[in-house]
Amino acid sequence: MSRGPAPGCVLAFDDERGTALALARALDVPLAPIECHRFPDGELKLRLPAALPPGVVLLRGLHRPNDKLVALMIAAPAARELGAQRLVLVCPYLAYMRQDIAFAPGEAVSQRHIAGLLASRFDAVVTVDPHLHRIASLQQVMPGCEAVSLSAAALLGAWVAQQVADPLLLGPDEESAPWVLEAARACSPVADNACCTKQRHGDRDVRVALPPALDCRDRAVVLIDDVASTGGSLAAATRLARAAGARSVDVAVTHALFVGDAVTELRSAGVGRIWSTDCVPHASNVITVVPLLAAALGPA
Ligand code: R5P
Repeated sequence: MSRGPAPGCVLAFDDERGTALALARALDVPLAPIECHRFPDGELKLRLPAALPPGVVLLRGLHRPNDKLVALMIAAPAARELGAQRLVLVCPYLAYMRQDIAFAPGEAVSQRHIAGLLASRFDAVVTVDPHLHRIASLQQVMPGCEAVSLSAAALLGAWVAQQVADPLLLGPDEESAPWVLEAARACSPVADNACCTKQRHGDRDVRVALPPALDCRDRAVVLIDDVASTGGSLAAATRLARAAGARSVDVAVTHALFVGDAVTELRSAGVGRIWSTDCVPHASNVITVVPLLAAALGPA
C-alpha cells in the first residue's frame, strides 16, 4: 500500500471485536471501540474515542450491509474530525459487488455507486475477493481512493489440499474460474479443476451444467466459490456432481453468507463438509484472513 501515517489503532464496532482484536494484535496497535446506540426510531448514535491517531484502520465487514453502510457514513467523517488523517477501511466482505452492470434498462449499477461512496470517505479500502466479474480491478470503481483487493483463494486451496487427497476443484459457474484456478495452484501437485456454466433466472432459480467432458466418477469434488448466498448455485452443482458419480462433494468459499436455510439445502443436495474464511462470521469458518489483511496494511 502507499505510504502515509502508519496505523495507530484499529477502530471497530462491538460485533466485530474478535477479528478487530486479532488484527490490532497483528499490527501491534490498540483496539479502539466504536459504541453504537440505536434510538427507538432506528437512527444510530456513534461514539468514538475522543482523540484518534493520524493513522486509523476502521474494520467493517459488509455482510447484512445496509445499516452498516449508514454507520460507516457517520463513522468515517467523525474519525477525521477526531484526528484521523489517513483513514483505511478494512472490509473483509465488500457487499454490492455482484450488480456490476444494468441487466435491464434503468437498473442501478450498485457496484459502482456503493464503491464510489466508500471511495469518497476513505483514503484506502482493503478487501478480500470482491466479486469483480466484468471489471478488471476494484480501483476502476473507486476513483481517488487506493483500492486493495486481496484473495483468499490460495488459502482455500491450501486448506483443501490438507483435507482431501487428490481433489477435483469445481466452480459452480464461469465467474468462479479465477478463484478455482488460484486454489488449484495452491495444491501440490496442481489440483484438477473445472467450472460449470450457470444461468440465473431469479434469486433462487439457477440452472447449472457440468462441463461436458468432465469425469466426476469416484472423485472427491470440492466446490470453490467467492461467495455463497442462498447456496442455490452450490446445491445445483452438487446434485450434478453426485449424479455424475462423485464420491464426495465438499464446499470451500471465501464469503459464507449462507442466508436462511442455505446449509440445510446444501446438506440435502449431498454436500459433506463446508469450509470458509472468517471474512463473514459463520459456523463453517476454518481459515482466518487476519494475517493476509495485516500483511497488506504492513509497517509504514
Ligand atoms: C455469483 O456469480 C457468485 O459468485 C455466486 O456464485 C453467487 O452469488 C452465489 O449465490 P447463491 O448462493 O445464492 O446461488
